[in-house]
Amino acid sequence: MVQVAQLGKGADMSDNQQKSSNVVWHQSQVTTAMRENLNGHRGAVLWFTGLSGAGKSTLANAVEDRLYAMKARTFVIDGDNVRHGLCADLSFSDDDRVENIRRVGEVAGLFVQAGVLTLTAFISPFRADREKVRSIVGENFIEVHCDTALEVCESRDVKGLYKKARAGEIAEFTGISSPYEAPENPEIRVDTGSDDLSVCVDQVIAYLLKKSVIQHV
Ligand code: ADX
Repeated sequence: MVQVAQLGKGADMSDNQQKSSNVVWHQSQVTTAMRENLNGHRGAVLWFTGLSGAGKSTLANAVEDRLYAMKARTFVIDGDNVRHGLCADLSFSDDDRVENIRRVGEVAGLFVQAGVLTLTAFISPFRADREKVRSIVGENFIEVHCDTALEVCESRDVKGLYKKARAGEIAEFTGISSPYEAPENPEIRVDTGSDDLSVCVDQVIAYLLKKSVIQHV
């Protein structure tokens, strides 16, 4: 069971850059703090970043399982899934990856306003893009680096994509022919290369408890 803690931290995003004119920000009567109060925990984004095959989706889903058992309101936004819909028009060029993360960052920001514990699993290879999301979400942005070495991801090659990338069948593949900028100072660094999944989950949950995002009764 989780309890209310440090409510009212949800960001209001009325000051974003916009090109459209004659649009006025509408303030809703139900505030983020009220939604958090109802939910019994803060809204936050756990932003899982790392190479393809580093274990981002696996860990995000395992953390969600644990949070669900604690009766928290959660949602996982997954890179592969989002590229079937919201971002189906985007490739893996640098520009399109920037746009991918921009869209997801905005969506994640809305989820935080909804008071939801949001877990995102995207390679999100560029530091500047992740920092941009941090600036949207504010102090409720929790960067989780799934730190698995390229050699380990490649040896796992769960989806067979590294083999194809090495063979030149996939262009601009992260870690092979496209860069990955590791976080310099993530809130959480998980050793998804060698630690058991349950150890990594414990580490994330312990952080949320320590920061009073969630609370045990
Ligand atoms: S991101 O770079 O824009 O953040 P995202 O997380 O959405 O990437 O998608 C990554 C997933 O797309 C990988 O897990 C992999 O399954 C698949 N994929 C297909 N092509 C590529 C590529 N060129 N580089 C990286 N991942 C790719």
